[in-house]
Amino acid sequence: MIKKSFSFSSATVNYLFNADFSYLETLVSKDSAVIVTDENVFRKHQKKFKGWKTISIPSGEQYKVQSTVDTIIQQLIDLGADRKTTLIGVGGGVITDITGYVAGVFMRGIKCGFVPTSILAMVDAAIGGKNGIDVGLYKNMVGLIRQPEFLLYDFSLLKSLPKEEWVNGFAEVIKHACIKDAPMFKLLEENKLSYFQKDFTVLAKLIQRNALLKTKVVVEDEFENADRKLLNFGHTIGHAVENLYTIPHGHAVSIGMGAACKFSEQITGFKESARVINVLKQYGLPPQLDFDKDETFRILKSDKKKSNQGINYVLLNKVGKATVVPLPFEQIQSLINKL
Ligand SMILES: NC(=O)c1ccc[n+]([C@@H]2O[C@H](COP(=O)([O-])OP(=O)(O)OC[C@H]3O[C@@H](n4cnc5c(N)ncnc54)[C@H](O)[C@@H]3O)[C@@H](O)[C@H]2O)c1
Ligand SMILES: [Zn+2]
Repeated sequence: MIKKSFSFSSATVNYLFNADFSYLETLVSKDSAVIVTDENVFRKHQKKFKGWKTISIPSGEQYKVQSTVDTIIQQLIDLGADRKTTLIGVGGGVITDITGYVAGVFMRGIKCGFVPTSILAMVDAAIGGKNGIDVGLYKNMVGLIRQPEFLLYDFSLLKSLPKEEWVNGFAEVIKHACIKDAPMFKLLEENKLSYFQKDFTVLAKLIQRNALLKTKVVVEDEFENADRKLLNFGHTIGHAVENLYTIPHGHAVSIGMGAACKFSEQITGFKESARVINVLKQYGLPPQLDFDKDETFRILKSDKKKSNQGINYVLLNKVGKATVVPLPFEQIQSLINKL
């Protein structure tokens, strides 16, 4: 097991890589904890939950909403949870987001920790303290920034992860490589998904590298004034097409990264679009989509992160180096129309 601690403004988070799920008992006693998980994870790993008070919710983004929060809170009351209870989210990003949020509001805030079980949660969602729920079509509209006490990484949990969720998670891995880590980009270029799926030692290293990359960015810019914005690479158009079509998040981000590469060619003189596009395809991700340009632009304009004049767009200077460029709406529209 590899232990690392990181200090955020309000709390220190302990990261436990290569840990076994059973190590949870060393962190929190079964009497003073309640696990929140989803039906898939619970079903696949039932034995691990033995002896733990567990709340299991249906799986899927459509359950990351207030009514599920109400259900969880009611069950916490029924289970006799109090201010000293630690809530443990065991699952993908939906679970870590909603568990972090419930922990932030239940009795004005109780402790929480995460055991991320999807690639996406391990490299992205569980890290950084952002949590929350969706409201109607608006993703993550309500929430808090609040750090968990610990993140426990048991990589063997990934054995049950469906293939499409591996692909989804790798979209964020490729994103990290594009914005901050050229050597990791090369590693991805030289291999295929199956290489990481087969060899859990290599996979563990890759996930740890990504978790630490995101952590470093967040520690240095917890409240998103500067570098943390870079993590939005591919997510501007990504969120818009995700909103417009029923496609997985990883696919949407991939389409967004493909578009951002093309924008970068025009704005920063970026010359490596082909490399990025090839890596996306290599990992089963679509670098483009024939999306409705007018509708996409309309959604972009109503994005919650926009200013009145335009969008701070994340572009690439080269693989491994990103930059934020304020682009006026007219320019974005013309860039979209050229795609
Ligand atoms: N807070 C943040 O900073 C942040 C960052 C990125 C994404 N997110 C959020 O994360 C969510 C997406 O995360 P996700 O892709 O993990 O979604 P998810 O939690 O819905 O998990 C994806 C699917 O995989 C299943 N699953 C997860 N782990 C499994 C395992 N080990 N074995 C079998 N099945 C498993 C789940 O049941 C689900 O069906 C979104 O709601 C997004 O908004 C948050
Ligand atoms: Zn994402």
